[in-house]
Amino acid sequence: MKVQVFEDYDSESAATAAIIGAAIAVKPNSLICIASGHTPVGVFRQLVKDVKARVIDFSKCTFVSLDEWIGIDPLDSGSCLAMLKKDFFDHLALRKDQVRYFNVTAPSLDEECDKMNNLIKNHGGLDVMLVGIGTNGHIGMNEPGTSFNTYAHIGKLAEETILTGQKYFQKPTSLNDGITLGLQHFKEAKVPILMASGETKSSIIRKVIASAPTAQIPATIIHETPQALVILDKAANGI
Ligand code: PGA
Repeated sequence: MKVQVFEDYDSESAATAAIIGAAIAVKPNSLICIASGHTPVGVFRQLVKDVKARVIDFSKCTFVSLDEWIGIDPLDSGSCLAMLKKDFFDHLALRKDQVRYFNVTAPSLDEECDKMNNLIKNHGGLDVMLVGIGTNGHIGMNEPGTSFNTYAHIGKLAEETILTGQKYFQKPTSLNDGITLGLQHFKEAKVPILMASGETKSSIIRKVIASAPTAQIPATIIHETPQALVILDKAANGI
């Protein structure tokens, strides 16, 4: 695992976009997992600029979204898919088959997990996986207590996630469960990137970096993932 600390959010975002761009230059048909939420917005902005400037070509890539709230209408502006569309996909001329996500309105969510696991397995793993971190150390909806060796699965949301998750919604919203790629996907990704920005993340980042790997802090999987990149701004680094 390698930690890189940047002066501010903009330089951190630009550096992350450059890492993704470099991975795609090497493998144009990359399978890329991206998180929704606030952290990657600057990366998306930079990637969209790079596509428009023809520095990056996503035409052969497939995107997989990291997770989704169960029970939330995908059209709700707080759904992971709606955020990804607004912040990223809507700015790119992607074909429908280039975007894969958990359909929480499907009759069987177990099948949704199987589909995602098979897609990733048949591709030979994720080429890039960009994730943020929750203040409780979660990655995606892998909450504290989740085993490191899980693939896509359904899980109960932690109380902290239910509370902080309200920031994405227009009105108080009942959140209970999530569907998510697993920590094993992170471990097996060719370029797994954990990105954090801002002072609110500094305390968990300190804990994650100092702690031995433990399921109680899912992001400590970085210690078992030698190729992982931890990309921070100074505020998230906190020292
Ligand atoms: P954020 O969410 O990027 O909106 O801070 C990160 C997370 O909870 O995983």
